[in-house]
Amino acid sequence: MDKEAKAKARERVAEIASEHYKRGDVMGWFEALYKESAGDNEMIPWADLEPNRYFRTFAEDTGLRGEGRTALVVGCGLGDDAMYLHDLGFKVTAFDISPTAIEWAKKLYGGNDINFVTADLFEPPPEWKYLQPDGPRSGCGFDLVLEIYTIQPLPIEMRPQVIDAIAALVGEQGILVVVTRGREDDEETGDLPWPLSRRDLSRFEVNRLTQKDFRTMPGEDDEPERFIVTYIRS
Ligand SMILES: C[S@@+](CC[C@H](N)C(=O)[O-])C[C@H]1O[C@@H](n2cnc3c(N)ncnc32)[C@H](O)[C@@H]1O
Repeated sequence: MDKEAKAKARERVAEIASEHYKRGDVMGWFEALYKESAGDNEMIPWADLEPNRYFRTFAEDTGLRGEGRTALVVGCGLGDDAMYLHDLGFKVTAFDISPTAIEWAKKLYGGNDINFVTADLFEPPPEWKYLQPDGPRSGCGFDLVLEIYTIQPLPIEMRPQVIDAIAALVGEQGILVVVTRGREDDEETGDLPWPLSRRDLSRFEVNRLTQKDFRTMPGEDDEPERFIVTYIRS
């Protein structure tokens, strides 16, 4: 997508999100945007129809391979990263709160034995959750959880809740990879999507996860730098 198209798409995102926020609906705007775009990915600023370039660089640098392990993609959008993990040899489940996004992902990649599911991060199927209210549950959760850009557009006040919900999905000896716009702890958050600081990310470690790797990559154009952070279940 060229720079101009992306800027236009971002303007429309800001309008739709703000209309929904005014009504106290902080998540409904995703479905509204996917629906309004009517199959035109140029209206979705994050939909490049290819794997996230920062995650792909990370995967290539670290030699990431699935070898039949399970993976869960959080807020998968149109499914490009799910497809990439499938190609790396993972058994992939990918979910999004937007039914339109999931239908779209199925159209693009549905023939590939990827389990695309409409689901809310805050109410996932119980068997997806390793961390349950009564403690860890063996046999639940995933070997790899991939989170790209789902935390940053959700309200900052909800951030701990969002991080706890993602962390719960990482299974025994599992790993979590987070790709996000980054900011310094003392830096203003600016406009949507609100970048994460190291302090924000430290919440993952309250959830029995240990940070294993932290790398930064420069953002494109005048975009904030990206944090690519890996955690392991401890
Ligand atoms: C900024 S987009 C990123 C999409 C995708 N990860 C990517 O990088 O292309 C955030 C995605 O999270 C989804 N999302 C937002 N809130 C969610 C929730 N509570 N549960 C599941 N998905 C959610 C949105 O519908 C949207 O597709």
